[in-house]
This record gives sequence, structure tokens and C-alpha cells, in this order.
Amino acid sequence: MKHLIRKLKRAVFDLDPSYHDMFEDAGAQKAGGDYLKVIERALEARFGTSKVTILDAGCQAGRLLIPLARAGHRMIGVDRSAFSLRRAQGHAHEARVSVELHKGDILKVNRWVSRKSVDAAICAEVLYLVKNFPGHLTRLKETVRPGGLVFISHRPKVYYAAKALDEGRPGLAETIASNTEGPSPDGIYHNWQTPQELNELYTDLGLKILELVPIQERTWSLPPGLSLDHKVEEALSSVRAGDGAYRIPDYLLVVARRP
Ligand SMILES: C[S@@+](CC[C@H](N)C(=O)[O-])C[C@H]1O[C@@H](n2cnc3c(N)ncnc32)[C@H](O)[C@@H]1O
Repeated sequence: MKHLIRKLKRAVFDLDPSYHDMFEDAGAQKAGGDYLKVIERALEARFGTSKVTILDAGCQAGRLLIPLARAGHRMIGVDRSAFSLRRAQGHAHEARVSVELHKGDILKVNRWVSRKSVDAAICAEVLYLVKNFPGHLTRLKETVRPGGLVFISHRPKVYYAAKALDEGRPGLAETIASNTEGPSPDGIYHNWQTPQELNELYTDLGLKILELVPIQERTWSLPPGLSLDHKVEEALSSVRAGDGAYRIPDYLLVVARRP
């Protein structure tokens, strides 16, 4: 019932006070700035000052889409939420840029974006929520021209392992360390990877990873009195920062090239 009322309010009044507009939220904007720095640097290294065509899959309210359109790129946004796309359209209007938006699922992206037609595809903070993430990645890769780039963010395994340990659930941290998907400490489906697992995934997909960039790193310490399973220890050892502290990123941004 609550869900239905929310849907109705969105459709009739274009209103949802509970909606998290990542274009407007200061914290999300800060992380967006971190993504954009990496994306703009990689675009310039690959395409120089040329303006290119970029797909933003799961664009939500346009946190990355609008600044890149403002920078002069031709932006195509796809999202399965019509409400999000209306927000993105509104933000584009305010920024006086034009963007192309399509409502639908990433798995069906070829309905709007043909194969090998874009110079770059972005998918930030989407795939870790999606069960068939290798299938989604394949669809995205297919839209990119040979020589083009993909920018995809993933949840690092250490993010959920640390979260489980913070909640005093070492057994769950162990399960997370031994797997790459399942219920996270949030109690819902998520997937997560180590840098090595990402390397294997992208190699299998025929993509060459150029960079793996931590987004929004924070310093974290092990809660006292916990003994670690060797798998958790192994995962955490890659982000050890000395003095018993670790550097845990919220996301890992993969920058990869389609050969
Ligand atoms: C957390 S937001 C990411 C926002 C945006 N990428 C950014 O970085 O600002 C996730 C968005 O992905 C969309 N989404 C999730 N799964 C999708 C799918 N399979 N196809 C299309 N959109 C999807 C959701 O509707 C939501 O707007």
C-alpha cells in the first residue's frame, strides 16, 4: 500500500520527499566529483580534447550525466526509473544542456544504443545491486566502440567485511570474504569483489583494466576483541594502512578499455 501511494504521488504530483536525489545531495556530489576527476582524466588521455558520445547506464538524477554534458560531451542516459529520469531532465534543463534519456533496463540497452556506437560507457553504483552483473557488463561492453572506455564502480569485498565486523558479526565477515555475492550486512542481495576478482572478471569479458581507483576511502580500525578468520585477514591485508588501521573505499572504480 505504502509503495502504491508513493508510486501514485510520483506519477500524479511528480513528488517523493523520500527520494534520494544524488544530483542534489552534498555527500553524493562529493563522491560524484571523485568519479568525474577519474573519468575526465581518462577521457582526455584517450580522446584528447575531442567531445565524445557517452552512455550513462543507471544515470538516476544525472549526478555524472549533467556535468559531462556541461563539458560538451553527447550524453545518453538510461535508467529503469521514470521518476529519476524526470529529475535528470529537470537538472539538465536548469543547467541548460541537452541530454538523451531512455527509460528501461540495462539488459535491454541495445534498444536505444546500438552495438559499438559509443566512445565510453559509465555505470556507477548500480551493478553491485544487480544479480546478473556479468550479463549487464556484457551488454554495456557491447555498446562501446573498439578502443573505447568503460567506467564501472563495484563494491570492494573489504567494505562489507568491515561493516559485518562493525556490527559484531565475524561469521558474516567470513562468509563475505569467501564469496562474491549474497546477502550483505544490509540483509539484501549485493555483490562485492577483490581487485583480483575484478581483474579476472574483466579479463573474461575481453576488457583490459587500465586503472582501479578507490572512491571515498575512509580510515577504519578493527573493533577490539575480534579474532579474524584467515580469509577476512587476507582480504583486509590489501588495505592495511599501519597502526592497526585500514583504508576502506566505498567503491572501486574500474577504468577499462575495449581492445
Ligand atoms: C544508486 S543509483 C546510481 C546513480 C548514478 N549512476 C550516479 O552515480 O549518480 C542507481 C540507479 O540505477 C538504476 N538501476 C538499477 N538497476 C538498473 C537496471 N537494471 N537498469 C536500469 N537502471 C537500473 C536505479 O533506478 C537508480 O536510479
